[in-house]
Amino acid sequence: MDLHSTFPGVMDLKWRAKRRIPKFVWDYLDSGTGVEATKARNRKALDRIGFDPSILHGAIETNLSTSLLGQEFPAPFGAAPIGMSGLIWPGAEALLARAAAQAGIPYSLSTVASRSPEEIAPSLGPHAWFQLYPPKDPEIRQDVLNRAREAGFSTLVLTVDVPVASRRERQTRSGLTQPPKLTPRLLAQIAMRPAWAFEMTQEIAREGMPRMRTLDKYVPKQLNLPPTAHIGYLLRTSPDMDYVKWLRDQWDGPFIIKGVMRAQDSELLERAGVDALWVSNHAGRQFDGAPSSIEVLPAIRAATRLPLIFDSGVESGLDILRAIASGADFVMMGRAFQFALAALGPQGPAHLIDVLKQDMIANMGQIGAASLAELPPIRTLSDLD
Ligand SMILES: Cc1cc2nc3c(=O)[nH]c(=O)nc-3n(C[C@H](O)[C@H](O)[C@H](O)COP(=O)(O)O)c2cc1C
Repeated sequence: MDLHSTFPGVMDLKWRAKRRIPKFVWDYLDSGTGVEATKARNRKALDRIGFDPSILHGAIETNLSTSLLGQEFPAPFGAAPIGMSGLIWPGAEALLARAAAQAGIPYSLSTVASRSPEEIAPSLGPHAWFQLYPPKDPEIRQDVLNRAREAGFSTLVLTVDVPVASRRERQTRSGLTQPPKLTPRLLAQIAMRPAWAFEMTQEIAREGMPRMRTLDKYVPKQLNLPPTAHIGYLLRTSPDMDYVKWLRDQWDGPFIIKGVMRAQDSELLERAGVDALWVSNHAGRQFDGAPSSIEVLPAIRAATRLPLIFDSGVESGLDILRAIASGADFVMMGRAFQFALAALGPQGPAHLIDVLKQDMIANMGQIGAASLAELPPIRTLSDLD
Protein backbone atom coordinates (compact mmCIF):
# COMPACT_ATOMS: atom_id res chain seq x y z
CA MET A 1 0.00 0.00 0.00
CA ASP A 2 1.28 3.46 -0.89
CA LEU A 3 0.87 5.11 2.49
CA HIS A 4 1.26 8.62 1.08
CA SER A 5 -1.74 8.31 -1.19
CA THR A 6 -3.97 6.68 1.44
CA PHE A 7 -2.77 8.65 4.49
CA PRO A 8 -1.40 11.94 3.18
CA GLY A 9 -1.97 13.88 6.40
CA VAL A 10 -2.26 13.54 10.17
CA MET A 11 -6.05 13.76 9.82
CA ASP A 12 -6.09 10.52 7.82
CA LEU A 13 -4.15 8.78 10.58
CA LYS A 14 -6.47 10.25 13.19
CA TRP A 15 -9.63 9.05 11.46
CA ARG A 16 -8.23 5.56 10.97
CA ALA A 17 -7.03 5.43 14.57
CA LYS A 18 -10.52 6.31 15.77
CA ARG A 19 -11.95 3.43 13.74
CA ARG A 20 -9.33 0.93 14.97
CA ILE A 21 -9.25 1.43 18.75
CA PRO A 22 -12.06 0.93 21.28
CA LYS A 23 -14.04 3.99 22.28
CA PHE A 24 -12.65 4.15 25.85
CA VAL A 25 -9.10 4.09 24.46
CA TRP A 26 -9.95 6.79 21.94
CA ASP A 27 -11.45 8.92 24.71
CA TYR A 28 -8.31 8.42 26.82
CA LEU A 29 -6.13 9.50 23.90
CA ASP A 30 -8.15 12.37 22.56
CA SER A 31 -10.03 14.00 25.43
CA GLY A 32 -9.28 17.36 26.96
CA THR A 33 -10.65 18.36 30.35
CA GLY A 34 -13.85 20.31 31.14
CA VAL A 35 -15.79 21.25 28.02
CA GLU A 36 -12.50 20.88 26.10
CA ALA A 37 -12.34 24.56 25.20
CA THR A 38 -8.56 24.77 25.72
CA LYS A 39 -8.07 21.82 23.41
CA ALA A 40 -10.15 23.58 20.73
CA ARG A 41 -8.34 26.87 21.47
CA ASN A 42 -4.97 25.23 20.74
CA ARG A 43 -6.18 24.36 17.24
CA LYS A 44 -7.87 27.67 16.55
CA ALA A 45 -4.89 29.72 17.68
CA LEU A 46 -2.52 27.73 15.45
CA ASP A 47 -4.85 28.20 12.49
CA ARG A 48 -4.74 31.93 13.04
CA ILE A 49 -0.98 32.09 12.42
CA GLY A 50 0.16 32.61 8.84
CA PHE A 51 3.00 33.84 6.68
CA ASP A 52 3.06 36.06 3.63
CA PRO A 53 3.48 33.82 0.57
CA SER A 54 6.71 34.50 -1.26
CA ILE A 55 6.95 34.48 -5.06
CA LEU A 56 9.72 34.52 -7.66
CA HIS A 57 12.34 33.25 -5.27
CA GLY A 58 13.58 30.57 -7.69
CA ALA A 59 14.23 26.94 -6.73
CA ILE A 60 14.81 26.27 -3.05
CA GLU A 61 16.81 23.46 -1.52
CA THR A 62 15.14 23.05 1.84
CA ASN A 63 17.09 22.15 4.95
CA LEU A 64 15.04 21.13 8.02
CA SER A 65 17.95 20.54 10.36
CA THR A 66 18.41 22.29 13.68
CA SER A 67 20.30 22.03 16.93
CA LEU A 68 19.03 21.91 20.49
CA LEU A 69 20.98 21.64 23.73
CA GLY A 70 24.21 21.04 21.86
CA GLN A 71 22.82 18.25 19.70
CA GLU A 72 22.07 18.18 15.97
CA PHE A 73 18.73 17.02 14.62
CA PRO A 74 17.73 16.38 10.97
CA ALA A 75 14.27 17.81 11.72
CA PRO A 76 12.98 20.06 14.51
CA PHE A 77 10.42 17.71 16.03
CA GLY A 78 10.05 14.64 18.23
CA ALA A 79 7.68 12.43 20.22
CA ALA A 80 6.26 13.76 23.51
CA PRO A 81 5.76 11.50 26.54
CA ILE A 82 2.49 9.57 26.70
CA GLY A 83 1.33 7.68 29.77
CA MET A 84 -0.02 4.15 29.24
CA SER A 85 0.62 4.31 25.51
CA GLY A 86 0.61 0.50 25.47
CA LEU A 87 -3.14 0.78 25.87
CA ILE A 88 -3.37 2.78 22.65
CA TRP A 89 -1.30 0.26 20.71
CA PRO A 90 0.52 -2.71 22.22
CA GLY A 91 4.27 -2.21 22.24
CA ALA A 92 3.83 1.51 21.42
CA GLU A 93 6.88 2.62 23.39
CA ALA A 94 9.39 0.35 21.62
CA LEU A 95 7.87 1.01 18.19
CA LEU A 96 8.09 4.77 18.71
CA ALA A 97 11.53 4.72 20.28
CA ARG A 98 12.91 2.71 17.34
CA ALA A 99 11.31 4.94 14.70
CA ALA A 100 12.62 8.05 16.45
CA ALA A 101 16.12 6.55 16.72
CA GLN A 102 16.09 5.69 13.03
CA ALA A 103 15.01 9.22 12.11
CA GLY A 104 17.49 10.81 14.54
CA ILE A 105 14.77 12.67 16.46
CA PRO A 106 13.99 12.66 20.21
CA TYR A 107 11.73 10.15 21.89
CA SER A 108 10.41 10.77 25.41
CA LEU A 109 9.39 7.97 27.75
CA SER A 110 6.80 8.84 30.42
CA THR A 111 7.19 7.79 34.06
CA VAL A 112 3.70 6.31 33.69
CA ALA A 113 4.29 4.61 30.32
CA SER A 114 3.48 0.93 29.97
CA ARG A 115 7.14 0.01 29.56
CA SER A 116 10.00 0.66 31.96
CA PRO A 117 13.34 2.34 31.11
CA GLU A 118 15.06 -1.07 31.30
CA GLU A 119 12.60 -2.66 28.86
CA ILE A 120 12.91 0.15 26.36
CA ALA A 121 16.71 0.49 26.58
CA PRO A 122 17.52 -1.71 23.52
CA SER A 123 15.25 0.45 21.32
CA LEU A 124 16.70 3.83 22.29
CA GLY A 125 18.69 6.08 19.99
CA PRO A 126 21.03 8.90 21.00
CA HIS A 127 18.19 11.34 21.77
CA ALA A 128 16.32 9.60 24.56
CA TRP A 129 14.47 11.83 27.01
CA PHE A 130 13.03 10.56 30.28
CA GLN A 131 9.93 12.38 31.54
CA LEU A 132 9.56 12.45 35.29
CA TYR A 133 6.37 12.74 37.26
CA PRO A 134 7.95 13.71 40.56
CA PRO A 135 7.97 10.84 43.06
CA LYS A 136 7.36 11.99 46.64
CA ASP A 137 9.61 9.43 48.31
CA PRO A 138 13.29 10.51 48.09
CA GLU A 139 14.51 6.95 47.69
CA ILE A 140 12.10 6.26 44.84
CA ARG A 141 13.08 9.58 43.27
CA GLN A 142 16.75 8.69 43.29
CA ASP A 143 16.11 5.17 42.10
CA VAL A 144 13.99 6.31 39.13
CA LEU A 145 16.73 8.75 38.07
CA ASN A 146 19.41 6.07 38.35
CA ARG A 147 17.34 3.64 36.33
CA ALA A 148 16.70 6.22 33.59
CA ARG A 149 20.38 7.15 33.40
CA GLU A 150 21.53 3.52 33.31
CA ALA A 151 19.00 2.67 30.59
CA GLY A 152 20.54 5.32 28.32
CA PHE A 153 18.35 8.38 28.81
CA SER A 154 20.50 11.47 28.40
CA THR A 155 17.90 14.19 28.97
CA LEU A 156 15.55 14.63 31.91
CA VAL A 157 12.14 16.29 31.56
CA LEU A 158 10.23 17.28 34.69
CA THR A 159 6.51 17.76 34.04
CA VAL A 160 5.10 20.47 36.30
CA ASP A 161 1.59 21.07 34.98
CA VAL A 162 -0.09 18.25 36.89
CA PRO A 163 -0.17 19.70 40.42
CA VAL A 164 -3.44 17.81 40.91
CA ALA A 165 -5.23 15.14 38.91
CA SER A 166 -7.36 16.55 36.11
CA ARG A 167 -11.01 15.60 35.82
CA ARG A 168 -11.10 14.75 32.11
CA GLU A 169 -14.83 14.14 32.10
CA ARG A 170 -15.09 12.51 28.65
CA GLN A 171 -12.65 9.84 29.73
CA THR A 172 -14.58 9.15 32.94
CA ARG A 173 -17.86 9.06 31.02
CA SER A 174 -16.53 6.35 28.72
CA GLY A 175 -15.92 4.00 31.66
CA LEU A 176 -12.10 3.93 31.77
CA THR A 177 -10.57 3.30 35.20
CA GLN A 178 -6.95 3.05 36.32
CA PRO A 179 -5.91 0.28 36.10
CA PRO A 180 -8.38 -0.56 33.31
CA LYS A 181 -11.16 -2.85 34.55
CA LEU A 182 -12.83 -4.98 31.91
CA THR A 183 -16.50 -4.25 32.45
CA PRO A 184 -19.15 -5.62 30.03
CA ARG A 185 -19.35 -2.11 28.56
CA LEU A 186 -15.64 -1.98 27.79
CA LEU A 187 -15.71 -5.54 26.46
CA ALA A 188 -18.49 -4.56 24.05
CA GLN A 189 -16.36 -1.66 22.80
CA ILE A 190 -13.38 -4.00 22.37
CA ALA A 191 -15.45 -6.52 20.41
CA MET A 192 -16.06 -3.83 17.79
CA ARG A 193 -12.32 -3.31 17.21
CA PRO A 194 -10.90 -6.70 16.10
CA ALA A 195 -7.43 -5.53 15.01
CA TRP A 196 -6.77 -3.86 18.37
CA ALA A 197 -8.35 -6.80 20.25
CA PHE A 198 -6.11 -9.27 18.42
CA GLU A 199 -2.91 -7.35 19.14
CA MET A 200 -3.93 -6.69 22.74
CA THR A 201 -4.78 -10.34 23.43
CA GLN A 202 -1.30 -11.34 22.31
CA GLU A 203 0.25 -8.58 24.38
CA ILE A 204 -1.66 -9.63 27.50
CA ALA A 205 -0.64 -13.28 26.98
CA ARG A 206 3.03 -12.22 26.73
CA GLU A 207 3.22 -9.34 29.19
CA GLY A 208 0.10 -9.29 31.37
CA MET A 209 -2.38 -6.42 31.56
CA PRO A 210 -1.10 -3.01 30.44
CA ARG A 211 0.15 -1.14 33.51
CA MET A 212 2.70 1.47 34.60
CA ARG A 213 5.65 -0.88 34.69
CA THR A 214 8.27 1.65 35.78
CA LEU A 215 6.37 1.92 39.04
CA ASP A 216 5.81 -1.82 39.54
CA LYS A 217 8.70 -2.22 41.95
CA TYR A 218 7.52 0.62 44.22
CA VAL A 219 4.03 -0.71 44.81
CA PRO A 220 4.03 -2.98 47.85
CA LYS A 221 2.47 -6.29 46.89
CA GLN A 222 0.26 -6.38 49.98
CA LEU A 223 -1.25 -2.99 49.20
CA ASN A 224 -4.87 -3.66 48.37
CA LEU A 225 -5.58 -0.83 45.98
CA PRO A 226 -9.11 0.08 44.94
CA PRO A 227 -9.83 -0.54 41.25
CA THR A 228 -9.73 3.20 40.51
CA ALA A 229 -6.32 3.80 42.14
CA HIS A 230 -3.90 5.49 39.76
CA ILE A 231 -0.46 4.31 40.84
CA GLY A 232 1.14 7.34 39.20
CA TYR A 233 -0.91 9.72 41.34
CA LEU A 234 -0.31 7.72 44.52
CA LEU A 235 3.45 8.00 44.19
CA ARG A 236 3.86 11.52 42.90
CA THR A 237 3.92 14.93 44.49
CA SER A 238 3.38 18.51 43.33
CA PRO A 239 6.93 19.75 42.86
CA ASP A 240 8.18 23.17 44.02
CA MET A 241 11.33 25.15 43.20
CA ASP A 242 13.34 23.19 45.78
CA TYR A 243 12.44 20.03 43.94
CA VAL A 244 13.64 21.60 40.68
CA LYS A 245 16.95 22.62 42.30
CA TRP A 246 17.40 19.18 43.83
CA LEU A 247 16.86 17.55 40.44
CA ARG A 248 19.25 19.99 38.80
CA ASP A 249 21.96 18.89 41.21
CA GLN A 250 21.25 15.22 40.66
CA TRP A 251 21.09 15.16 36.87
CA ASP A 252 24.23 15.99 34.95
CA GLY A 253 22.67 15.96 31.46
CA PRO A 254 20.21 18.41 29.89
CA PHE A 255 17.28 19.20 32.19
CA ILE A 256 13.97 20.47 30.80
CA ILE A 257 10.85 21.78 32.58
CA LYS A 258 7.63 20.80 30.79
CA GLY A 259 4.38 22.70 31.20
CA VAL A 260 5.60 26.32 31.34
CA MET A 261 2.86 28.77 30.34
CA ARG A 262 3.90 32.09 31.96
CA ALA A 263 6.76 34.38 31.02
CA GLN A 264 7.41 35.24 34.68
CA ASP A 265 8.24 31.59 35.50
CA SER A 266 11.05 31.53 32.97
CA GLU A 267 13.38 33.78 34.95
CA LEU A 268 13.19 31.68 38.12
CA LEU A 269 13.74 28.51 36.16
CA GLU A 270 16.68 30.01 34.31
CA ARG A 271 18.24 30.95 37.66
CA ALA A 272 17.67 27.42 38.96
CA GLY A 273 19.96 26.14 36.21
CA VAL A 274 17.35 24.56 33.96
CA ASP A 275 18.56 24.02 30.36
CA ALA A 276 15.33 24.46 28.40
CA LEU A 277 11.64 25.22 28.89
CA TRP A 278 8.85 23.20 27.33
CA VAL A 279 5.87 25.44 26.61
CA SER A 280 2.78 23.24 26.83
CA ASN A 281 -0.75 23.15 28.16
CA HIS A 282 -0.69 19.36 28.01
CA ALA A 283 -2.99 19.37 24.95
CA GLY A 284 -5.74 20.93 27.07
CA ARG A 285 -5.94 17.85 29.27
CA GLN A 286 -5.24 19.55 32.60
CA PHE A 287 -6.90 22.99 32.82
CA ASP A 288 -9.73 24.17 30.63
CA GLY A 289 -9.16 27.78 31.63
CA ALA A 290 -5.66 27.92 30.17
CA PRO A 291 -4.73 29.95 27.10
CA SER A 292 -3.54 28.10 24.03
CA SER A 293 0.16 27.23 24.17
CA ILE A 294 0.90 29.07 20.93
CA GLU A 295 -0.50 32.37 22.17
CA VAL A 296 1.79 32.48 25.22
CA LEU A 297 4.88 31.41 23.28
CA PRO A 298 6.03 34.85 21.98
CA ALA A 299 5.98 36.41 25.48
CA ILE A 300 7.98 33.52 26.94
CA ARG A 301 10.42 33.82 24.02
CA ALA A 302 10.86 37.51 24.82
CA ALA A 303 11.44 36.77 28.53
CA THR A 304 14.21 34.18 28.32
CA ARG A 305 17.32 33.15 26.46
CA LEU A 306 16.70 29.48 27.24
CA PRO A 307 15.82 27.18 24.35
CA LEU A 308 12.06 26.68 24.05
CA ILE A 309 10.35 23.43 23.19
CA PHE A 310 6.71 23.67 22.17
CA ASP A 311 3.68 21.37 22.07
CA SER A 312 -0.13 21.20 22.16
CA GLY A 313 -2.27 20.87 19.07
CA VAL A 314 0.46 20.36 16.44
CA GLU A 315 -0.97 18.38 13.53
CA SER A 316 1.11 19.22 10.47
CA GLY A 317 4.44 20.44 9.15
CA LEU A 318 2.85 23.86 8.79
CA ASP A 319 2.01 23.85 12.52
CA ILE A 320 5.68 23.09 13.26
CA LEU A 321 6.70 26.12 11.19
CA ARG A 322 4.09 28.26 12.95
CA ALA A 323 5.55 27.31 16.34
CA ILE A 324 9.15 27.89 15.28
CA ALA A 325 8.33 31.28 13.76
CA SER A 326 6.53 32.16 17.02
CA GLY A 327 9.66 31.54 19.07
CA ALA A 328 10.07 27.78 19.55
CA ASP A 329 13.40 26.07 18.97
CA PHE A 330 11.88 22.63 18.80
CA VAL A 331 8.40 21.07 18.55
CA MET A 332 7.07 17.91 20.15
CA MET A 333 3.92 15.96 19.35
CA GLY A 334 1.90 13.70 21.62
CA ARG A 335 -1.28 12.52 19.98
CA ALA A 336 -0.13 12.59 16.35
CA PHE A 337 2.40 9.80 17.00
CA GLN A 338 -0.24 7.76 18.82
CA PHE A 339 -2.71 8.24 15.93
CA ALA A 340 0.00 6.95 13.59
CA LEU A 341 0.59 3.87 15.75
CA ALA A 342 -3.09 3.10 16.19
CA ALA A 343 -3.76 3.62 12.48
CA LEU A 344 -0.83 1.73 10.99
CA GLY A 345 0.92 -0.20 13.78
CA PRO A 346 4.71 -0.54 13.37
CA GLN A 347 4.76 1.41 10.07
CA GLY A 348 2.92 4.37 11.57
CA PRO A 349 5.61 6.49 13.22
CA ALA A 350 8.02 6.44 10.26
CA HIS A 351 5.18 7.37 7.92
CA LEU A 352 4.15 10.25 10.17
CA ILE A 353 7.74 11.55 10.30
CA ASP A 354 7.83 11.49 6.49
CA VAL A 355 4.46 13.26 6.19
CA LEU A 356 5.59 16.00 8.57
CA LYS A 357 8.87 16.53 6.74
CA GLN A 358 7.16 16.68 3.35
CA ASP A 359 4.59 19.13 4.66
CA MET A 360 7.33 21.33 6.11
CA ILE A 361 9.20 21.30 2.79
CA ALA A 362 6.06 22.15 0.78
CA ASN A 363 5.17 25.05 3.07
CA MET A 364 8.72 26.39 3.26
CA GLY A 365 8.65 26.51 -0.55
CA GLN A 366 5.57 28.74 -0.37
CA ILE A 367 7.15 30.93 2.28
CA GLY A 368 10.48 31.11 0.46
CA ALA A 369 12.53 29.86 3.41
CA ALA A 370 15.35 27.42 2.69
CA SER A 371 16.09 26.83 6.36
CA LEU A 372 14.33 27.30 9.70
CA ALA A 373 16.50 30.34 10.40
CA GLU A 374 15.04 31.98 7.28
CA LEU A 375 11.42 31.78 8.41
CA PRO A 376 9.91 35.26 8.12
CA PRO A 377 7.79 36.92 10.83
CA ILE A 378 4.34 35.48 11.33
CA ARG A 379 1.19 37.37 10.46
CA THR A 380 -2.18 37.02 12.17
CA LEU A 381 -4.78 35.64 9.80
CA SER A 382 -8.39 36.72 9.93
CA ASP A 383 -10.83 34.38 11.66
CA LEU A 384 -12.84 32.15 9.40
CA ASP A 385 -15.76 31.79 11.77
C1 LIG B 1 -2.95 10.16 26.12
C2 LIG B 1 -1.98 11.16 26.61
C3 LIG B 1 -1.14 10.84 27.68
C4 LIG B 1 -0.18 11.77 28.12
N1 LIG B 1 0.67 11.41 29.12
C5 LIG B 1 1.65 12.27 29.50
C6 LIG B 1 2.61 11.88 30.47
O1 LIG B 1 2.61 10.77 30.96
N2 LIG B 1 3.55 12.79 30.81
C7 LIG B 1 3.60 14.06 30.27
O2 LIG B 1 4.47 14.85 30.63
N3 LIG B 1 2.71 14.43 29.33
C8 LIG B 1 1.75 13.56 28.94
N4 LIG B 1 0.88 13.94 27.96
C9 LIG B 1 1.02 15.24 27.30
C10 LIG B 1 1.94 15.14 26.09
O3 LIG B 1 3.26 14.85 26.48
C11 LIG B 1 1.97 16.43 25.29
O4 LIG B 1 2.26 17.52 26.15
C12 LIG B 1 0.68 16.71 24.55
O5 LIG B 1 0.06 15.52 24.12
C13 LIG B 1 0.97 17.60 23.36
O6 LIG B 1 -0.16 17.91 22.64
P1 LIG B 1 -0.59 17.12 21.31
O7 LIG B 1 -1.09 15.78 21.75
O8 LIG B 1 -1.66 17.97 20.74
O9 LIG B 1 0.63 17.02 20.42
C14 LIG B 1 -0.09 13.04 27.51
C15 LIG B 1 -0.93 13.35 26.44
C16 LIG B 1 -1.85 12.43 25.98
C17 LIG B 1 -2.70 12.80 24.79
